Amino acid sequence: MSDTGGGFTDEAIEALLAPAIRRLPPPTSLSPLPYDLNAGVPDRDTLPWEILADAARDALAEDPGGALTYGGTMGYEPLRAWIAARQSAETGLDVTSAHVTLTAGSAQGIDNIAAAFIAPGDVVVTGAPTYPGAIRTFRARGAVVIDVPQDDDGMIMPALERVLETRRMTGQQAKLIYVTANYDNPSGSTLPLERREALVRIARAHGVLILEDDAYTGIDLDGPPPRSLFSIAGGNGILRCGTFSKTIATGLRVGWTVADPAITRRLAFARFDNGASPFLHRMVLKYLESGAFDPHVQMLCDLYRERRDVCAQALMDFAEPYVTFRRPAGGFFFWLHLRPGLTGQAVFEAAARHGVAVTPGTGYYANGGGEDRVRLVFSALPPEELRMAIAAFAEGLAEAASAVGASAR
Ligand SMILES: Cc1ncc(COP(=O)(O)O)c(C=O)c1O
Repeated sequence: MSDTGGGFTDEAIEALLAPAIRRLPPPTSLSPLPYDLNAGVPDRDTLPWEILADAARDALAEDPGGALTYGGTMGYEPLRAWIAARQSAETGLDVTSAHVTLTAGSAQGIDNIAAAFIAPGDVVVTGAPTYPGAIRTFRARGAVVIDVPQDDDGMIMPALERVLETRRMTGQQAKLIYVTANYDNPSGSTLPLERREALVRIARAHGVLILEDDAYTGIDLDGPPPRSLFSIAGGNGILRCGTFSKTIATGLRVGWTVADPAITRRLAFARFDNGASPFLHRMVLKYLESGAFDPHVQMLCDLYRERRDVCAQALMDFAEPYVTFRRPAGGFFFWLHLRPGLTGQAVFEAAARHGVAVTPGTGYYANGGGEDRVRLVFSALPPEELRMAIAAFAEGLAEAASAVGASAR
């Protein structure tokens, strides 16, 4: 690059950044360690690239102009209709393509919802812990993120009520509650039906919207989850975002939002990206219509169920003196509770010395907490490797425990 003199140093660029962006912690990255129990991604060998390649060629051949020209901010209507039909079947509601927009993964759905509804200073409520990508997105939009404690069954409803009540009394009414009701990242928890009903009731009483993140919906390892918040609320006041990332491939970047058409119109209005890719939408629909999708998801669930069980057994065999955990009913994660004296940071460092990448718990809390937690991904490694990874992880745990002089429980 030619040097024009003076110029922008790294510090100068940093100083020009929007303050909300400058204050964000860095995102986590993929690990170069031999055993990666950090990245929440599907197994690489399951990626259905051959059928996708056929679907891509068919999509281009069938309508090159449509596939390769701007498609609008709502996205390709036949794919929206396919998603709407699935949502209707699941919720018992009449969901139409007017309820659906297509996004670049659910991450863009969350950002789009934040762009449309969150102004600087607005209050967004999340669980503690919760998905850090959502915390970053809300904060980048200037939100004040307030968190509500979770237990093994997810967000605690009386605590949510107290938070909303306190906010209301201080004139800072919350605008949005963000929740992953199915197979939460990182806690793996699934919100029981009574809590879902309470959540919808509480949110409505306070005039607060709910963002229901369905990133792991479909990765059902113990049968279907309870009714969705969207279904319980009759579709009113709930914005869902979903994705093909976990059921097909993260690299597709094809996700969606589902909400009442009155909300959906506003979401499309708050999009300035010229829409997501009409080519990918057509390709994904061809794949879905090929009949390969449902058996693929079934295969994934069988595969991940085995891995979850292998991981649980290996944790019991090798790591139990140092950790307790609840077996998740779906998704990709174990959320380990470390025994007293151990910290997630020390375990993260010791595990890395044994070649295993895990995620310390603190990054999942908007306002502090999680020092005694570690997240493990069980989806990405085959059973034998997963067992070896947990054995190596347990050596890291023992090392971290001996460093603090803690003995097995
Ligand atoms: C809870 C949750 N929501 C959303 C996302 C974003 O996924 P994507 O943008 O690939 O759909 C993730 C990714 O890990 C996640 O864990």
